[in-house]
Amino acid sequence: MNETAPVRLSELVATLSLVADLGMGRPMERVLRQTVIALRLAEESGADDGVRAAAYYTSLLTWVGCAADTSELAALFGDETDLYADSHDGDLAGVTMAMFVLRHLGRGSSRVRRAGMVTRFLATAGRSVQQVMQAHCQSASELAGRLDLGEDVCRPLLQSFERWDGRGIPGAAGGAALDPAIRLVQLADNVEAFHHTAGTDGAVTVARERRGTQFDPALVDCFVRNHADVLAGLDRIQAWDEVIALDPRLGACLSDAALDRALQAFADFADLKSPPRLGHSRGVAALAAAAATRLGLLAEDVHLVRRAGWVHDIGMIGVPSAIWNATAPWSLSQAERARTHPYLTERMLAGMPGLNAVARCAAQHHERLDGSGYPHGLSGDALPMTSRVLAAADVFHALGEPRPHRAPLPADAAAGVLPAEAKAGRLDPDAVAAVLASSGRRVRRTPDGLTARETEVLLHLARGLSNPEIAAALTLSRKTVSTHLEHIYTKLGVTTRTQAALVALRRGLAGG
Ligand SMILES: [Fe+2]
Ligand SMILES: [Fe+2]
Repeated sequence: MNETAPVRLSELVATLSLVADLGMGRPMERVLRQTVIALRLAEESGADDGVRAAAYYTSLLTWVGCAADTSELAALFGDETDLYADSHDGDLAGVTMAMFVLRHLGRGSSRVRRAGMVTRFLATAGRSVQQVMQAHCQSASELAGRLDLGEDVCRPLLQSFERWDGRGIPGAAGGAALDPAIRLVQLADNVEAFHHTAGTDGAVTVARERRGTQFDPALVDCFVRNHADVLAGLDRIQAWDEVIALDPRLGACLSDAALDRALQAFADFADLKSPPRLGHSRGVAALAAAAATRLGLLAEDVHLVRRAGWVHDIGMIGVPSAIWNATAPWSLSQAERARTHPYLTERMLAGMPGLNAVARCAAQHHERLDGSGYPHGLSGDALPMTSRVLAAADVFHALGEPRPHRAPLPADAAAGVLPAEAKAGRLDPDAVAAVLASSGRRVRRTPDGLTARETEVLLHLARGLSNPEIAAALTLSRKTVSTHLEHIYTKLGVTTRTQAALVALRRGLAGG
């Protein structure tokens, strides 16, 4: 193992921006270019160092919340990546916002189901969409907190969908109350999108059109005056190198503990892509590390396996939720798309030289000893013991979890599958034995302050069950489920399903 190079904070946050591009079906490095524009705008407008630093990290994290938690959007809109591809089209407020949402609502659903969705949307004045958008802001802000980026970054991230005229979401801040960092980021975000599709004229036109509505007028005036400098060479820059060079913290590196926290955040974001998978990545990491220890691997390799477990499915974010949430068998093209996720995992992590070995191990979790795995069809000696342990832990843990098309397998049945895979030459027999021997030793902890029943309700909620489904699963009335949920939200200090799920993950409820 060669894990000597430290990981820079800027590399890690820039990696998260690539994850966001991927999750939203946008061109890679879009957010990186947006960040270059935001920093050039900061320079031209005379922003101080504090605002520049806040704008840098805020920009890189703005869309991270939208990369995960796309299941709810997919349920409302069909393919969430289509929705995001169009989301710069209009100046989203009032009537325009409603028309935009109505155009997308229920895409891919039957006409009857679609009509029902439109009726519900109109009746609730789009509350469900607003809740999803707010949850995205909260997820990004919470992630910034976990990366120790401070209030100067957490605060503007909560305002990601606010507008200068106060007609944004949640509509709590406008004008001078809008954080200077988010004003820079919002203008940069739209300027980048329109520059990409309509060139310099398109970027300047959209800024002018939305002056004083979506954007700070003074900032628009500054951009219009200096647009040639702000957009100079944007098509040709190496966005990754440029952004890393702009790092306001001048190459600050993450401590080992901070890096572990960040990689656990990767784990949670990967699992949020499909609610039944919540806790999967943390569970696989814990099980693989326990099995690696049992096999007598070096401490540094145990650490590598644990980290690879946390990040192994981050590439899932690049595949639409509709595929992960399908209850019918996948079509050939859906299966092909799903099978790209380990490759995308490796691609996502490639910008952090200090995590090369982790990325390699993570990307091999679907490879099989007989060459029948993916994405590269590696076999035999090409797969080190670290990868073999991770592969066995991934299979065992997944079998015990529910999936949209099947119930979880009882532990005995899951334990029977692994030796059969080893016998067939696909999984390593030693890795399988170590995983099975380690599998009974993990203890699920209960979040503080919740009763046993509330914990059960939270676990079901975290796995994406609706209130009626929770009621049916636990043989409770819907009213009782609602009462439990009210208590859970109050005790955990949260307001949305996503936040509750994240708390459940952090406290070890849904993980292993
Ligand atoms: Fe996977
Ligand atoms: Fe997995």
